Amino acid sequence: MHQPSIAAALMAALAALPSAQAAMYTKSSPVVQLNARNFDSLITNSNYTSIVEFYAPWCGHCQNLKPAYEKAAKNLDGLAKVAAIDCDDDANKPICGAHGIQGFPTLKTFRPGKKAGKPIVEDYRGQRTASGITDEVVNKINNHVTKLTDKDLDAFLEKSGPKALLFTEKGTTSALLRSIAIDFLDVIKVGQIRSKEIAAVERFGIEKFPSLVLIPGSEDTEPVVYGGELKKASMVDFLKQAGEPNPDPAPAKGKGNQVKAKPKAEPAPEPEESPESSTASSTAEDVAPTVIPIQSISSNDMLHENCLQKKSHTCVLAFIPEGSADGEKAVESLSKLNTKYIRGQHHLFPFFALPDSVDMSSTLRTSLELGADVELIAFNARRGWFKQFQGKDYTVEGIEAWIDAIRMGEGEKKKMPEGVLAVKASEESQAEKSSSEETKATDPEPEIETEAPEEEEIVHEEL
Ligand SMILES: *[C@@H]1O[C@H](CO)[C@@H](O)[C@H](O)[C@H]1NC(C)=O
Repeated sequence: MHQPSIAAALMAALAALPSAQAAMYTKSSPVVQLNARNFDSLITNSNYTSIVEFYAPWCGHCQNLKPAYEKAAKNLDGLAKVAAIDCDDDANKPICGAHGIQGFPTLKTFRPGKKAGKPIVEDYRGQRTASGITDEVVNKINNHVTKLTDKDLDAFLEKSGPKALLFTEKGTTSALLRSIAIDFLDVIKVGQIRSKEIAAVERFGIEKFPSLVLIPGSEDTEPVVYGGELKKASMVDFLKQAGEPNPDPAPAKGKGNQVKAKPKAEPAPEPEESPESSTASSTAEDVAPTVIPIQSISSNDMLHENCLQKKSHTCVLAFIPEGSADGEKAVESLSKLNTKYIRGQHHLFPFFALPDSVDMSSTLRTSLELGADVELIAFNARRGWFKQFQGKDYTVEGIEAWIDAIRMGEGEKKKMPEGVLAVKASEESQAEKSSSEETKATDPEPEIETEAPEEEEIVHEEL
């Protein structure tokens, strides 16, 4: 009958399905694509407001949102970030989990708070249309623009450093000017003053509104009235004569970073990817790239808690015999990898050192049929497998290749022997709880769908 052709059609349909890796947004999309490595530098530590879509590629509502979301991204270009993260990608799951994602798509706005690296995160509950999203995000762009009158203008001008002043007929502060103030945070002070403030208007000889004036820092320089197009890019170019805008994302310290930023004399850029920012409140001083050591398992309980509960996710254990040079080397390499992965608070999966002094260590060595030397084991108690590092190449590269293979689901899986996971009842119930939470997070949750009607272009490129 039609069996063969149905099978063929099915194959074709399957082949057409995006693979697990295929992201919903293409490279050319105006939507910024996030992952575990760039999430913090692009979103958490940014001075800009962002909206982030937490999505799964298979989710129909996510697909439906895409055109409106891309349109919002175009509208907000240069003003705020419109970004998306694929929660189906294992590497991104910790981030999606940390944000309590329960269904797809979930939209959240991120706005810099008082403390660097601690943004104010809010759920976006508005219409899933380009204009709905654009307006909401525009409302959340922080305002660092000082509103001035004739009375307080002098005090503003007496402040040190360069200043930019927008003369406008409006009482509100445009998204464009707010975004410029963010670009030049701590570089140029930005103020706005209304056309009815006659003394100021006369003082600067302003004849039309809006007009932008740059007051360069030093005393002996004259204010410059901007004569160019009132577009963001050209205005920023004009202001650059007084100071470089802050690079975003901020350049990371150290080597091997893709983020290129112009070298800048001052002020010192904030350490975006410094490991400290994930632990302590970071100040501009503690930027030295420090290695974050992996945790050492100190008891059977700690081992159970982290790796051997029935619902434990992947967990890497380094069995370290006392005084072993290889062991030290492995721990050092794992710590470097650990640092690399958690820069920006995101563990890929946890790494632990397991010294022989912990009782369970020898039990595990026996039941997993390991030798007495250094052993690196990735466990997934939940799925009941473990993978063993082969060879003696305990360099960062050697271990990273193994970790990458695990991430890709490659490498020989061995079955976890019975008994390894014998756990206490209290742990069981705890595990149950976390597992039900997790299931919820990855299940698609029906969301109210809003058809994006044909919308007018919303232009915020105005003062
Ligand atoms: C954020 O603003 C601060 C000034 O407040 C600046 O030093 C830093 O470089 C900016 N960071 C980014 C990522 O733009």
